[in-house]
Order: sequence, then C-alpha cells, then structure tokens
Amino acid sequence: MSNTLQKLQDLEPSAEEFAAAVHAGLSQAAKSLPCKFFYDFEGSRLFDRICELPEYYPTRTESRILEKHAGDIAQLIGPGARLVEFGSGAGVKIRLLLSALARPAAYVPVDISRLHLLAAASSLAKDFPRLVIAPICADYTKPFDLPAPTGAAPGATIGFFPGSTIGNFTPDEARLFLVNARQLLGRSSLMLVGVDLRKDEAVLVRAYDDAAGVTAAFNLNLLRRINRELGGTFQLDEFTHRARWNDVLGRMEMHLVSRRAQTVEVDGRRFSFAAGEAIHTENSHKYSISQFQALAGEAGYAPRAVWTDEAELFSVHLLEDARSPGKA
Ligand SMILES: C[S@@+](CC[C@H](N)C(=O)[O-])C[C@H]1O[C@@H](n2cnc3c(N)ncnc32)[C@H](O)[C@@H]1O
Repeated sequence: MSNTLQKLQDLEPSAEEFAAAVHAGLSQAAKSLPCKFFYDFEGSRLFDRICELPEYYPTRTESRILEKHAGDIAQLIGPGARLVEFGSGAGVKIRLLLSALARPAAYVPVDISRLHLLAAASSLAKDFPRLVIAPICADYTKPFDLPAPTGAAPGATIGFFPGSTIGNFTPDEARLFLVNARQLLGRSSLMLVGVDLRKDEAVLVRAYDDAAGVTAAFNLNLLRRINRELGGTFQLDEFTHRARWNDVLGRMEMHLVSRRAQTVEVDGRRFSFAAGEAIHTENSHKYSISQFQALAGEAGYAPRAVWTDEAELFSVHLLEDARSPGKA
C-alpha cells in the first residue's frame, strides 16, 4: 500500500441530519427527498451499474470526450496540478486526467458516500503510487477545508465536477455551488465541469428508466436506506419508480409514486400518502452550451474551453476564475 494515501477527513453527514432532511421533505405538501442521500454504499454500487447501462449515454460520452481531449486539457492545466474532485464516486474519470497530466501533485476526492470513497481512493493509490491522495467525506454543499498545497513549486488548483452532477442542482443552487467552489479553490484556479446537453425527450427518459430496472432499484434504495438507518416502515413494492421530462424547467425528474393510500412511519413519525402521490427524489437539469456558460459567468467563471462529442449529447467545460490575473 502506498504511504501517499492520507487519512480520511471525515465530515460525513450525521444520522440526525439525515433524519431531519427526511422529516422535512416528507412533511411538505409536495413531498421530496434530497438526492444526496441516494448514496449509501448500496446506492453508490447501483450508480456504478447505471454507468454501464446501454441507455445511460452520459458516462461513456463524457469519458470519450475526456479521453480524446486529455492532451489539450493537460496542456491548459499545466504541470504540478492539485486536483479536487466533487462527487468523485468510483474515481474512474479522474484516471483519464491523471494519466495525461504532467506530474500531478495531489488529488482530493470529495464524496458523501464514505465507504465507496475509501475503496475508490485506495484503488487509485495502488495505480498512482507517487500521487498524494487526500480523501474528504463531506457534503460539498456545506463548508469544508482543503489540505494545504504541497511541494516546492505547486501548480494550479483544478476543480473537477464530472457526471453532470451539477445538473442535480437547480440553476440557483448550481450558481451558489460554483461561487463557493471558486472561493474554496482560490484565485487562478480552474474548474472542469461535465454538463449534460438538452436532447430528444425519448433518449432522456430511457436513460433514467432503463429496461433492466437498475435506475428503479437505485431510486427505491433511498426508501430501503430510510428503513434501515431511520427505522422506516416503507414497503418497497408499494412504490414505483417514475422518470419524466419537465419541459418548462428543462430537467429530468425522478419520483417514487405510492401505489395506494398508505401511512408510513419514520423514526416514530407518521406520513400519509394518497394513491398516486409522489415523492420527488432527483432533478437532472439539461443545458445548452451557452446557457451553462451564462450561468457560470454569473458565478464569476469565464469560459476557457469547451468540448463536446460529435452527436452533441454531452459537454465538458473548462472554466477560469474571471478575476484571475490577465482577465479584465
Ligand atoms: C451522479 S454521481 C457521479 C459520480 C462520478 N463523478 C461520475 O462522473 O460518474 C454523483 C456522485 O456525487 C456524490 N454526491 C452526491 N451529492 C453529494 C453531496 N452533496 N456532497 C458530496 N458528494 C455528493 C455521490 O456520492 C456520487 O458519487
């Protein structure tokens, strides 16, 4: 085992935070649950299976874009970079960058899914034994600190936010995330973000409602997690997975729909569902390139480069701090 793998900085949300979010979400007139709680170990494992599905074009398309342009990206980033990945998951895409970059100095994977993060970090440490890896288990919408840059002549700090995970935020939340990330990463930092593009509704719906039912299992796993961790009484076969396109808000939505009128307990509190009533569990906003650049601009980021695939399914944006030296 490499000794460059540093001890986990553990800021995992507590059971109390999870319980408070579930109680608040299920008490609303339009019930909802935050999608960040999908990712217990089983949820992360199911997401990794989604990435392999034929219908789920985002993962393979973004990976191909990164692979094809890794040389250009490495040139723009320069040597000795410190990479901070938000929602690092299985840590697959970062390998494409690490292999292309000149002497990357450090990698800071940030993820809410603790055990999955630890497994991904230790697997990466085996393959990149000279790289300093400093994992942080945290909710990236809350404040946390980065380890100080190391080395005699540290290169740039680069944020990496792949997977179109930024689409899980509303546009206002995405702007706020980018403002906070820009502050966390510091002046002259860059941000590489994967953003899913608007496309045919049927392609989108298939991607979020696959034939093998893996996305349905991923969605329902949230109820299983509530049962296990918060003493919930959800019967999983009494809820169905629904994925639909919201054209007004430009997003895919996932819901869990109650098959019948029923009452469920969570941590001793009762929540009633009408037949057909839904819990809104996830949004995945889709942008055009110019829409996303405008949003990033409002968060203080200027576009440095953007890459897409030939079918224009997905985009990868390199953003720079609009206040960095040399910028107007
Ligand atoms: C859609 S997956 C993307 C995974 C991977 N980056 C990829 O591109 O395939 C979202 C990842 O972000 C993590 N995540 C989701 N919400 C989070 C939050 N609020 N704070 C930290 N990590 C979060 C999940 O655990 C998961 O690994």
